[in-house]
Amino acid sequence: MTSLVVTPTGRPLAGHVVAPGDKSIGHRALLFSALCQAPVRVRGLGSGADNGRTARAIVALGATTARDGDEVIVTGRGLRGLTAPSAPIDCGNSGTTIRLLTGLLAGQPFASELYGDESLSRRPMARVIEPLRAMGATITGLAGGNDVTPPLRIAACVERLRGRAHELAIASAQVKTALVLAGLCADGATRVTEPWRSRDHSEHLLRAMGAPLTVDGLAVTVDGAGWDGGLAIDRIDVPGDPSSAAFLIAAALVAGTRDGGVVCSGVNRNPTRTGFLDALAAMGWTAPMRDPVTCYRGEEVVTIDVAGPAPALRATRIDGELTVRAIDEIPILAALAAIADGDTVIADAGELRVKESDRIATTVAMLRGFGVEAEAQGDGLVVAGRGRRPLRAARVDSAGDHRIAMAGAVLALVADGPSRIDDADNVATSYPGFVAALTALGAEVRVEP
Ligand code: S3P
Repeated sequence: MTSLVVTPTGRPLAGHVVAPGDKSIGHRALLFSALCQAPVRVRGLGSGADNGRTARAIVALGATTARDGDEVIVTGRGLRGLTAPSAPIDCGNSGTTIRLLTGLLAGQPFASELYGDESLSRRPMARVIEPLRAMGATITGLAGGNDVTPPLRIAACVERLRGRAHELAIASAQVKTALVLAGLCADGATRVTEPWRSRDHSEHLLRAMGAPLTVDGLAVTVDGAGWDGGLAIDRIDVPGDPSSAAFLIAAALVAGTRDGGVVCSGVNRNPTRTGFLDALAAMGWTAPMRDPVTCYRGEEVVTIDVAGPAPALRATRIDGELTVRAIDEIPILAALAAIADGDTVIADAGELRVKESDRIATTVAMLRGFGVEAEAQGDGLVVAGRGRRPLRAARVDSAGDHRIAMAGAVLALVADGPSRIDDADNVATSYPGFVAALTALGAEVRVEP
């Protein structure tokens, strides 16, 4: 198991980094391409382990993938042409892989089994299994507390699934997408309504592929009546991941910049993913965005410049739909709150309890390691910002969670000595190039066994 040792240099950062391919969109690009009949060229796919799990899963279901320079060519089997996997499918650490696959496989005429690593084996699946059962699917998992956990066994679907209306109790793009995929294989219309809008990458990509999908406020409907099941797209340009870019933007804000500043290009600015930047604006730093490029309808990337010395940040409140739009960025926002003036409150974040780690607990523990006062409060946390007073060098246990490891590494840039982030292998699940990118900007980060 590797650790990251971060030694503060006192030197501001500078340089240009390109955001790696968006993890969420990478999963969808691979999985949906496997449902097309003609080959799809996917450009800019991230090299994270999670996307790798989805790539292997579609191969297990009969698709093929081939690398061609910076593109992956996916040759699918059509929506109704997938084949039975010869063995249980390993979803690794990836919640998106297992939940999206569960929705897709629920309507297939063959049985399948999905499992994952220790962290994934603890994550709740009832949220996807129960609505799928209501559509006629037969899925079993392990009883875990009040919930159901992997491994999941999905029985062959003998009669077609029945479309229906679902009202989700929580905003979840994974659950929404799973039900939409099941809906594509169902008789009648399937409608999914969320309390707040979660990321909408599936809607954009499926529509671009010709799926019978409509969006009406917080509801997404798929209705295959009169549809031949054909999905097609020549190429998918995967936008850069704002959730990965967030760590580099934060690093520049924490350590300050010199010369031309830190330039981060290729960052997806889909409004369902800009909660991090909106929270930062409320904290006193507004991201300058330039050079927009459309990848396909609904997904656009921009270049973000962080220039000048480290700005003074002020405390804020993050709640409601802003929490949903920043859900994966809460650990790094909490790290920034630690160097802001005043108490930052993060609420409506109960979902963090069931991410790759209990991120309310692991974020609080990470911050305390640096001498920051933080505590869990209800379904969120409170961080007592220290302004620019020095932080204590820390030893952080990432608890196997990539976003805790990266948030800790960023905060360590301004500690009073070298900090050590243990159990950091998991950085590779979303951002294998993180250490190289931080180092290229001038930070001193060593990877140790
Ligand atoms: C994801 C959705 C989010 C997010 C996760 C990726 C996705 O979870 O936290 O990292 O790709 O659909 P929800 O399903 O809770 O929205």
